[in-house]
Amino acid sequence: MERELAFFEGKIVPIEEAKISIKTNSFHYGTAVFEGIRAYWNQEEEQLYILAGYQHYERLLKNAKAMFMELPYTPQQLVEITRELLKESGVREDIYIRPIVYFKDLKLTPKLVGYTPEIAIYLYPFGAYLDPQKGIRAKVSSWVRNDDNSIPARYKIAGAYVNSALAKTEALLGGYDEAIMLNANGFVAEGSGENIFLVRNGVVYTPSVSEHILEGITRALVIRILKEDLGIEVIERPISRSELYIADEIFMTGTAAEVTPIVEVDNRKIGDGKVGEITKKVQEVFFSAVRGKLEKYRNLLTPVY
Ligand SMILES: Cc1ncc(COP(=O)(O)O)c(C=O)c1O
Repeated sequence: MERELAFFEGKIVPIEEAKISIKTNSFHYGTAVFEGIRAYWNQEEEQLYILAGYQHYERLLKNAKAMFMELPYTPQQLVEITRELLKESGVREDIYIRPIVYFKDLKLTPKLVGYTPEIAIYLYPFGAYLDPQKGIRAKVSSWVRNDDNSIPARYKIAGAYVNSALAKTEALLGGYDEAIMLNANGFVAEGSGENIFLVRNGVVYTPSVSEHILEGITRALVIRILKEDLGIEVIERPISRSELYIADEIFMTGTAAEVTPIVEVDNRKIGDGKVGEITKKVQEVFFSAVRGKLEKYRNLLTPVY
């Protein structure tokens, strides 16, 4: 990255100028909604590709609307702003993009009406978040996933990530890499920042979107890869904790996590404790698709240059 810039209050500015007051309403109550988007550098083409930009901004605007944070932008306009931000910043590497919608009012009272929403976007150089090569060790968390009727995980609300932070911290302090959270009904929900899939006898299972999870964009892409490219059946249904321990393979998906294998859960090896064959095949298609190497998935990518 040649210059560190941000989109702030309607303009692209140097990062030092993108500052908010400690009185900002959303800072106090976590009433912000955000996104995580990746852009991948393709060295051969000397091109940077934003992955699923439209889908991320569409989700952001819908979530923001549900939180009474309507913005005067379309998803396409936000993709264009992001393209401009990446171009002006001179990004020629893999990068993570963080858009966040917040109430800029310098007023107290935790509510969602009568305030002014604002959007900021900044860039964060970010390699692999977990370990997609070796896989990770996960722990079923003692922290229960936010219930849809308390703080919907679906909306990617800043404040909801206290739940993720508690679970992730418990996992890290226990010597694990990531947490797997159960929902209030006791079924598997998701990781602190990832959706989860498991493989049993050649069939892939993942919690359905009514299981108190974020409707992951990587999840949707991976379901498509499994069904269309690999011809594997995918079933969305409640998953019990005990099924994790007897799965042949488990992997997590997310913009940050990409496709990360889980090789151990609660000190039990998954399968033979190595990265599974179906997981490897999904990774192969996924990592080719995101760098623009598969014609079929090119329409998910926005070239920056
Ligand atoms: C709690 C949670 N679940 C799942 C995901 C994966 O979603 P996506 O694939 O849209 O990045 C994320 C990451 O954004 C997340 O924070």
